[in-house]
Amino acid sequence: MNLVCAQLVFAVTLWTAGAEAGIVAVCSGTSLLQAEQLSMEAEVRNSSDGSTFRVRRRRFISGKDMTALLDYHNRVRSQVFPPAANMEYMVWDERLAKSAEFWASQCIWEHGPHHFLQHIGQNLSIISGRYKSIIDLVKSWYDERHSFSYPSRCSGSVCTHYTQMVWAASNKIGCAIKKCSDIFVFGSMWKQATLLVCNYAIKGNWVGEAPYKIGRPCSACPSSYGGSCNKNQCDSRPKSRRNTNGFRGYKQ
Ligand SMILES: *[C@@H]1O[C@H](CO)[C@@H](O)[C@H](O)[C@H]1NC(C)=O
Ligand SMILES: *[C@@H]1O[C@H](CO)[C@@H](O)[C@H](O)[C@H]1NC(C)=O
Repeated sequence: MNLVCAQLVFAVTLWTAGAEAGIVAVCSGTSLLQAEQLSMEAEVRNSSDGSTFRVRRRRFISGKDMTALLDYHNRVRSQVFPPAANMEYMVWDERLAKSAEFWASQCIWEHGPHHFLQHIGQNLSIISGRYKSIIDLVKSWYDERHSFSYPSRCSGSVCTHYTQMVWAASNKIGCAIKKCSDIFVFGSMWKQATLLVCNYAIKGNWVGEAPYKIGRPCSACPSSYGGSCNKNQCDSRPKSRRNTNGFRGYKQ
């Protein structure tokens, strides 16, 4: 299997894991090569009746940006101070990414859709004009750590982007990026702005609660991790899959 093919298989595996469907076949030649990481196509088996259907969808985020955002979150999570006893390793979740896509595509500087926000956490970022790296859009979230004091004090205007980033039990993330030609932000119209929507599960920031427990790293992991620890995080992935941050087959 060539590299691009492996990438697509992986992307589709992630996606359909959420849809409870089994993969039948992917990688059918040059059209996929051209589509690169921005779209994916797959034949998916319906687990209820065994029929198959083809799906094709444009991705709102490249593999590179997806990896960068996930790596950044995990780096921040593994290095919190004071150290965390129960920090869980974060993985990409295609269902969250899909809901982020739907919302980002509306180009509205607000959280949504409303009914969804009871169950998931959501943070937004926007930048106008050019930017060097997708990380430019989330650095300000991390900078909020300077205003945050454990367990739950915030001396600045906002700390909730940061506390969501380091919420121990929020072990799933899915984000989407959308270029908006016109978007109303803080009372003025922004042109050609890039909107980032990141959805998190479980939702963090429960009022009055600390984002994580303080202690020796991994000393208070949920039992589902079976005592497995990697770089200060509870991590149940097999060792062989840890070096690529869970993105098997992805070229970075
Ligand atoms: C899967 O099969 C069930 C049972 O036939 C059907 O109700 C459902 O709509 C199918 N799902 C899709 C996505 O085709
Ligand atoms: C960031 O996400 C969390 C969800 O966990 C939410 O409670 C918080 O309000 C968000 N912060 C901002 C500034 O939107």
